[in-house]
Amino acid sequence: SSQVATNITYQKSTIAKLDRLGTFSSKNQNGCTVWFTGLSCSGKTTLSFALEEYLVKTRRISTYTLDGDNIRHGLNSNLGFSPEDRTENIRRIGEVSKLFADSGIVCLSSFISPYHADRQRVRDIHQKFGLPFVEVYVKAPLEVCEQRDVKGLYKKARSGLIKDFTAIHSKYEEPANPEIILETSKFSISDCVQKIINYLDQNKILS
Ligand code: PPS
Ligand code: MG
Repeated sequence: SSQVATNITYQKSTIAKLDRLGTFSSKNQNGCTVWFTGLSCSGKTTLSFALEEYLVKTRRISTYTLDGDNIRHGLNSNLGFSPEDRTENIRRIGEVSKLFADSGIVCLSSFISPYHADRQRVRDIHQKFGLPFVEVYVKAPLEVCEQRDVKGLYKKARSGLIKDFTAIHSKYEEPANPEIILETSKFSISDCVQKIINYLDQNKILS
């Protein structure tokens, strides 16, 4: 299983991106990825769902959310939380995000994505294909995240029921140069979403 496939030739689609877009009436022409990174309970899922709702309902833009909890039920159900598995998790989802963005969809990806090098690799593949990549650091102090503990996982981690929990036993490397930082303990959900929309509009990423 460590054998890497050879004799693989890239197959270029014969459908122009705009023709495909016409079939699902997105006004967005280029697609992009908005990548949410941050601690468990920092607000990644909440913000990406709120942004998705705004983009779909108000702007009529084709959007799709990829979320750690969901993807780990399917595509990445064979991965755990060791450093190697987290890296593979982000590598795969980075490739999937790139595919969505390339199809013209606004891809909203929310994964803890704790390692700088993994996030950089995702950024690089988007850049290589000329697709906008917007890294959003969903920032909240560990104490606040632990207080929220919406799934009770911090409690389990503290009591030793979870072994490699992010920020308790497993490192989170803060983004060095994210496009956007959202401090969810200081600002409301709608303020944070508005900040992303402003960035996307000002940089003409949605038109
Ligand atoms: S990673 O680090 O990017 O590969 O993680 P991700 O795919 O985003 O999955 C994070 C969600 O899995 C749940 N969970 C854990 N998180 C962190 N560490 C450990 N050990 C762990 N075990 C389970 C948790 O619900 C995470 O979701 P969020 O939304 O971040 O709270
Ligand atoms: Mg979540």
